[in-house]
Amino acid sequence: MERIFGRPIVTQEEMRARIRELGKQITTDYAGKDFVLVGVLKGAYAFYADLARAIRIPMRVDFLMVTSNKSRLKTSGKVKIVTELTEDIKGKDVLLVEDIVDSGLTAQYLVKTLARKKPRSIKVCTLLSKPEGRSIDIVIDYVGFKIPNKYVVGYGLDYQQKYRNLPYLAAVDMEEEQV
Ligand code: IMP
Ligand code: MG
Repeated sequence: MERIFGRPIVTQEEMRARIRELGKQITTDYAGKDFVLVGVLKGAYAFYADLARAIRIPMRVDFLMVTSNKSRLKTSGKVKIVTELTEDIKGKDVLLVEDIVDSGLTAQYLVKTLARKKPRSIKVCTLLSKPEGRSIDIVIDYVGFKIPNKYVVGYGLDYQQKYRNLPYLAAVDMEEEQV
């Protein structure tokens, strides 16, 4: 696994430090609020677990599971929620936790869909952002790392459902993978 993906593009140390900063910022911004941290599964699971433990205020945890109609590496933006929230988010301050924002279509769809449940506020936190991939205008409130337009795996992110357990982020070597 490590041979295929070579050097990490974000190391475990860099990840830990950045998540600590995000946690501090979110702790400050959401102090005193009725706060729900909503993770988007599966991709966000690793980031979510670390981020949640870096936030030092009382909060509820909840999850959505989505599948996207992605053929190979590109998302069509047609996401389907396959597992719904269990918390009632009406009147609450919701922070949606994503693994990566590329075109922005998934995040936009989820924000619109959750907004119908009338939360008091809804913001987005993503571990990774690929600004070059954006096809729509969307505000992402918290970004861990901006990365170039390369396909990455590890730390929750998959390539055809594998490599999510790689403990760091690495770019897929397209030649070896023969995509
Ligand atoms: P978007 O709708 O184009 O913003 O894509 C978001 C979704 O595409 C993410 O939640 C990921 O599941 C997937 N995705 C986009 N880029 C990558 C990548 O480099 N590695 C793994 N998954 C990715
Ligand atoms: Mg995915």
